[in-house]
Amino acid sequence: MASLLQHSHESLQELAKQLKLVVPDRYVSEPQDQSIFVSNNSLPLPSIPVIDMKYMFKMLQGSGIDIEQRNNLRSICHEWGIFQLVNHGVDKLLVENMKKEMVDFFNMPVEEKLRYKLKAGEYEGYGQTILNTQDQKVDWADRFYMITNPVHRRRSHLLPQLPPTLRDTMENYLQELQKLAMTLFTIIGQAIDIDTKEMTDVFEDGLQSVRMTYYPPCPQPDRVVGLVPHSDATGITILLQVNDVQGLQVKKDGVWIPVDFLPDAFVVNIGDVLEIMSNGIYNSIEHRATVNATSERISLATFFNPKLEADVGPAKSLLMNTGNQPLYRTLVMEQYLKDFFSYKLNGKTYLEKMKIRDEAHET
Ligand code: OGA
Ligand code: NI
Repeated sequence: MASLLQHSHESLQELAKQLKLVVPDRYVSEPQDQSIFVSNNSLPLPSIPVIDMKYMFKMLQGSGIDIEQRNNLRSICHEWGIFQLVNHGVDKLLVENMKKEMVDFFNMPVEEKLRYKLKAGEYEGYGQTILNTQDQKVDWADRFYMITNPVHRRRSHLLPQLPPTLRDTMENYLQELQKLAMTLFTIIGQAIDIDTKEMTDVFEDGLQSVRMTYYPPCPQPDRVVGLVPHSDATGITILLQVNDVQGLQVKKDGVWIPVDFLPDAFVVNIGDVLEIMSNGIYNSIEHRATVNATSERISLATFFNPKLEADVGPAKSLLMNTGNQPLYRTLVMEQYLKDFFSYKLNGKTYLEKMKIRDEAHET
């Protein structure tokens, strides 16, 4: 019991166990977040598109994706920027093991988890929302973020020190997902005439990171947000919902739409980097996570980014093939990432900073 009280500020999971009715102030979300909470079920909401990878694999072995698939993929990434991926080819047993290992991880005693504790001034480790401003609210979640590739960027006290079964399973899982991500980058690039070589040069052996998130049940779920609205600062993100509890929502045409994960599917979303590389053809969708009163929710997001030394900017082959002017600035990935982490997560405002506004900025 002593440890419960002692660590309740460091682990929301522990704090949430003690709460009966009232959410502490620092977790009560800002008014603008609350005003867009919707739970209007009178109209059937649209659901995010589904992509069947089986056909994509077939076509990649042949002559590349055909025009119909290409147009479909292009319009999904343009209009939605998110889809469910079925028949993705990642071994089912491996995915199940990954889920089990994550549940086990969050079930460990808090002292164990705090071995990976997020330290002040850092952004990798186990902890809660990193506060960039004094009045910022804290999301209703514990998170564990870490860079997993390049290997020399791994922090020695994080991935290498995880419980061995979690570590090994995660290594396998990430290797499989890296392959899947490269296939996705190839076809997503092909769909808008980005040369496969350019995609490969940028993303192969690129920066990869993961975020494991634990959303505890909340006595007042409507007063908090599990993860504030944001777009991901990635090429693509592959999201695994670990324990069948829904909570992800996406903003489409100004309306929040809940995502109902299909069994055995990954949810893949386009991030800011691909929006930039596609010169705005693709859309990095804004999304958030909600929480509920009764069930914990666990998710695993894997982020696939360019190499740290690669340029993040509109793809050269795309500009050449279309003759279009670049609508976004170009920045080296290392700097892009640094700027992102110094910036409070807030919708798509960080991406706005990358936009070229007028002629003056282009020179
Ligand atoms: C993220 C994210 C959603 C979820 O980690 O960037 O959007 O469902 N997660 O946990
Ligand atoms: Ni996200």
